[in-house]
Amino acid sequence: MAEASFPDQTEDKGDDFLKEALEILMLDVVKGTDRNNKVCEWMEPEELLSILDLKLQNHGEPKDVLLGYCRDIIRFSVKTGHPRFFNQLFSGLDRHALTGRILTEALNTSQYTYEVAPVFVLMEEEVLRTLRHFIGWESGDGIFCPGGSLSNMYAINIARFHCFPHCKGTGLSSLPRLVIFTSQESHYSVTKGAAFTGIGMDNVIHVLTDDRGKMVPEDLDEKIQKAKSEGSVPFLVSATCGTTVVGSFDPLQGLADVCEHHGVWLHVDAAWGGSALLSNKHRHLLDGINRADSVAWNPHKMLAAGLHCSAFLLRDTTGLLKRCHAANAKYLFQTDKFYNLEYDTGDKSIQCGRRVDCLKLWLMWKALGSEGLEKRVDGALSHTRYLVEEMRKREGFILVMEPEFVNLCFWYVPPSLRCQQGSPDYWDRLGKVAPLIKERMIKKGSMMVGYQPHGNRVNFFRQVVVNPESTKDDLDFFLNEIERLGVDL
Ligand SMILES: *Cc1c(COP(=O)(O)O)cnc(C)c1O
Ligand SMILES: *[C@@H]1O[C@H](CO)[C@@H](O)[C@H](O)[C@H]1NC(C)=O
Repeated sequence: MAEASFPDQTEDKGDDFLKEALEILMLDVVKGTDRNNKVCEWMEPEELLSILDLKLQNHGEPKDVLLGYCRDIIRFSVKTGHPRFFNQLFSGLDRHALTGRILTEALNTSQYTYEVAPVFVLMEEEVLRTLRHFIGWESGDGIFCPGGSLSNMYAINIARFHCFPHCKGTGLSSLPRLVIFTSQESHYSVTKGAAFTGIGMDNVIHVLTDDRGKMVPEDLDEKIQKAKSEGSVPFLVSATCGTTVVGSFDPLQGLADVCEHHGVWLHVDAAWGGSALLSNKHRHLLDGINRADSVAWNPHKMLAAGLHCSAFLLRDTTGLLKRCHAANAKYLFQTDKFYNLEYDTGDKSIQCGRRVDCLKLWLMWKALGSEGLEKRVDGALSHTRYLVEEMRKREGFILVMEPEFVNLCFWYVPPSLRCQQGSPDYWDRLGKVAPLIKERMIKKGSMMVGYQPHGNRVNFFRQVVVNPESTKDDLDFFLNEIERLGVDL
């Protein structure tokens, strides 16, 4: 008879490795936030491949070699926590949130049932409750999603289910032509979500925006009427608070009036701008958000909670989220469990296993309090103000528009192009400036900032200071560095 074979219990489990790797993590990752070090260490892909030994092999490797890999991984990764990393809508290394992320990884559980995630089921509810409170809802529902894009897709699915509950069973063939309304400035996940949910990208109708990038309620009203007269069913308006490029806020009161009048679900994509709700000074930007039916809000962006931390929140108190998504798997959500089944929240999700995303935010919130988070938001907005004022004092910095939030959009006009506005190739040449300056800063490793063309505008920089560790000196450095890197263009 063949003997059962068990794994060798004497093999090295890697306890020493873990201890030393955590030390490297503490030292090297935290060193990445030191402004005396580079933001990034640029390598061409071939060069990087020749330095890093990425090949997976038959044999295992010893501890010291593995620790070397860990150091190299840190060395050649972009330091997103660096105070001069302005490239994305996130930046910074909050030590409490980081601890929450490490704990989450170490405990390696899934958020679906109270049975396997007792603490996190209760914690998620508390965090969601608090976020809803800042929206102005004292009741409601919600769930953490892997990102704002997914939260927006949830909104599409929920709004459709709300109008046509039978479609969960009968599918698309039972539905009329459904249409979504959003602005030109909205995030691409709205159209992506329309494709994913079977609504179709052609059935996303773009509403006009004003010169500040804000949706025009009168145009929304007209377009809803027109769609209805053509036999389509408008079922969702996706407004944006804090658009991705220019940071504009749609006028929610006006949009809510139109949605109420037509009986259409109002979703607010506040993935980026939602954190302004924590600031008494700036929450007016989202005036009317309490009238929304659902909201997407990413604490992983402005609050620096770390990826992923994105909440999808609903005003509904009837259990719509669960009714819309539940599949009642008998092996996971048994109905004869010994505890209150209300605490098995996993069937609200379209996922099965779901990462714990609440702990990093919860721990950071406990450490800073709402007051500390408010200071972060206020700090980010005042940094942007400072940069605007400094740009006005310097030659060559042209604002694309006065910032409403922390998206500071500007062109840098190098000396050779100044006073050339009349020449026919002026805009073509200006459009080449940002990519060149960007290439130079990355190769030097001095800082990182994003650029893009937008509508009919040629490439401009989008500067975003959300890192709580960025100082006035970093902002001065930013302006000086753009001048240094662009002076000869
Ligand atoms: C970033 C962003 C999203 C997408 O969020 P992810 O978490 O990256 O998926 C959606 N909407 C807006 C307005 C955003 O700025
Ligand atoms: C984490 O949990 C998953 C199941 O959810 C399991 O497959 C995996 O082996 C666990 N990993 C570690 C490192 O414990």
